[in-house]
Amino acid sequence: MHKLDFGAAFPARHLFTPIDEEEFAEFERLFRPYVEQRADIYARIPGSSNWPEFEPPREKILEYYLTGKALGLPSGARCLDVASCLSIFPNYAAEQLGWTMVRQDMLYEDLPGEIEFPSVAGNGSTPIHFMAGDACSLPIEDNCLDAMTLHCSFEHFEGDGDRRLVAEAMRVLRPGGKLLIIPFYIGDSGGFQELVREEFAAGCQFTRYYDPAHFVMRVLAPLDQPIELEMRYYPNFAEVDPSFYCGYSLTIIKRPFHPVDRAARWLKQALSIPGTGDGAARPPG
Ligand SMILES: C[S@@+](CC[C@H](N)C(=O)[O-])C[C@H]1O[C@@H](n2cnc3c(N)ncnc32)[C@H](O)[C@@H]1O
Repeated sequence: MHKLDFGAAFPARHLFTPIDEEEFAEFERLFRPYVEQRADIYARIPGSSNWPEFEPPREKILEYYLTGKALGLPSGARCLDVASCLSIFPNYAAEQLGWTMVRQDMLYEDLPGEIEFPSVAGNGSTPIHFMAGDACSLPIEDNCLDAMTLHCSFEHFEGDGDRRLVAEAMRVLRPGGKLLIIPFYIGDSGGFQELVREEFAAGCQFTRYYDPAHFVMRVLAPLDQPIELEMRYYPNFAEVDPSFYCGYSLTIIKRPFHPVDRAARWLKQALSIPGTGDGAARPPG
């Protein structure tokens, strides 16, 4: 596993973070009650009885463990889990990490804003917010989230959904907020591929693999927002368990605009839109 090159315009921090087997085993032991209560959790998601049965593999537990470590958010952080489908992660993060969680998926029916889930430990309950519709067009205000997570989801966003999802995330995350894509299906040997078949996972007929150049061209270059990248490599994933496939994750961090860049951006817009280069437009304050 070697360092991937995203080019000069998008420098990345490259973090080689082998999976700590002992720590993961302990996480898994504590996480197991969520898997056991899976049917109970699913039964409370309106409409989910129509979906195919799904037994979360050990790989999902690995992803949720790595997400907690990569984001390291404090209790109270506001996080939207994009394309949650039947994931147990939002319930775990709300109950165990104290994050305020929103589950989002286009499969969800028009749901009440919030559902109370009984604690797996049997003491009280935790509210989880629900959101239906296309994650590329979220019905929430700018700069309102600390994080967004995509577990086994980003690769299923069809058409230009990959570009639109990241642009939308850069709108709704606060400056400093983080978008985590895990696993991140990237490499520089297979090249860029888009594949269609009957079904990859619930509701998904489509999947995509990137090489770094295509990821930059399709997703990062069109962004109108300063960002930082954190690329994580999990070099021992297959040694820990041959069924694991999470080799990489990517965190895109929204940076605030430098005042000079903000003025330059305004100038660029003013000069490119007919009728706005005549002095009528004013720079933002
Ligand atoms: C493999 S499932 C996600 C699994 C889940 N995150 C987990 O950890 O178990 C992929 C999901 O992506 C959702 N999806 C695909 N495109 C979407 C979009 N544009 N907006 C919202 N959800 C989308 C599908 O509805 C499907 O539920």
